[in-house]
Amino acid sequence: MDPRRNPYNPGAGLRPAALAGRDDDIEAFEILADRAQNGLMSRSIVFSGLRGVGKTVLLSELAGRALERNWLVVQVEAEHTLPDHFSTAMAVELANAARRQGSWLTRATEKIRLALGSITSFQAAVGAEGVSLGFERIPGRADSGSIQVDLVDLAETVGAAAKEEGIGIAILIDEMQELTTEQMSAVCRSCHRAGQSALPWFVVGGGLPNLPTRLAEAESYAERLFDYRMVDRLADADAVFALVEPASAQQVAWEADAAQFLLDESSGYPYFLQQFGKTVWDAAAGPDTITLEDATIGIAEGQQQLDLGFYSSRWERATKAEREFLRAMAPDDGQPSRIADISDRLGKASSRSLGPARANLIGKGIVYGPEHGMIAYTVPGMADYVRRRDDE
Ligand SMILES: Nc1ncnc2c1ncn2[C@@H]1O[C@H](COP(=O)(O)OP(=O)(O)OP(=O)(O)O)[C@@H](O)[C@H]1O
Ligand SMILES: [Mg+2]
Repeated sequence: MDPRRNPYNPGAGLRPAALAGRDDDIEAFEILADRAQNGLMSRSIVFSGLRGVGKTVLLSELAGRALERNWLVVQVEAEHTLPDHFSTAMAVELANAARRQGSWLTRATEKIRLALGSITSFQAAVGAEGVSLGFERIPGRADSGSIQVDLVDLAETVGAAAKEEGIGIAILIDEMQELTTEQMSAVCRSCHRAGQSALPWFVVGGGLPNLPTRLAEAESYAERLFDYRMVDRLADADAVFALVEPASAQQVAWEADAAQFLLDESSGYPYFLQQFGKTVWDAAAGPDTITLEDATIGIAEGQQQLDLGFYSSRWERATKAEREFLRAMAPDDGQPSRIADISDRLGKASSRSLGPARANLIGKGIVYGPEHGMIAYTVPGMADYVRRRDDE
């Protein structure tokens, strides 16, 4: 069928035509925001899940909702290869958010002046002075050069100004597991202080499943600081909705067995759903129904595209020793593997390179440690891919 009308969107952070199965998460944020606007506090939110489950899409949705409320919205993506990036991105995005608040610049109260001055000081301290707010720096405010101290200052000053205005600050941090321990601690401390002073400064984080553990390692109270929410594959009814609704909006119907086949093959993972939906649509003869035969052809094509992109991009980045490690995980079928089992499977010769291989694969974002002594793939379906490769 006409690819110009194809409603499916496989990709990183691409908004799906139908955002399915996330009502509870969206509602959790709406409650937090309503409470904040009534002067009530809530815990900040941390979303975690595997690659391709829809964390970025969810953060964007919440950012949009916060913007509709006229909140200050700061969106950053953590990047471990550039450790300074977090501070500069925070500085620039905070300044941009303040600028969007036109009235803050023209009718600044004492609290707003303090907030804008602090942001300006912070910008100067981290060397990100691109966005001028037209306010003087306030020496001693958010300019210590220590992110742990400065973020707390910002939470206090910007939080107080926002509270006065009846709005809040939403700081959306994607790929949050990439923050350094110091940066995680800074984020925790800022939320902790905001909570103590009842200031509407909220973080909404998104990251891999090891993010809650990483946060707890950074600050022991982090386990009580956040509302931890798992982002996972879609339940059957939601997966059907994500698949059928976008087609139906184009007067195209999925035959029941075709939809069921796609659901089974995608296991309800949002990225796979979009990928298969797209290739099945393109393969279908049309004009207004998608049959099991279309689905069979399209999913084979979609699987090939996943192998060439989603999986192979990760496989290609792994060295020989790292690939051995990935292979040794495959028998656990996507469930977390015990490091001890991997060591056994690899035998004596390779087990010496186990530590470095593991660390490098974590650094490359291909695996993560769900708990001590365990390791798991960050991408769903990786075990099958490794086996498919070896069969070829
Ligand atoms: N709730 C949903 N319903 C339907 N499709 C979705 C949903 N959430 C995300 N998708 C689709 O899934 C794909 C992946 O989404 P996204 O990039 O947000 O995942 P992610 O969890 O951020 O992945 P990564 O960890 O690789 O960054 C996109 O193609 C998106 O359109
Ligand atoms: Mg993402």
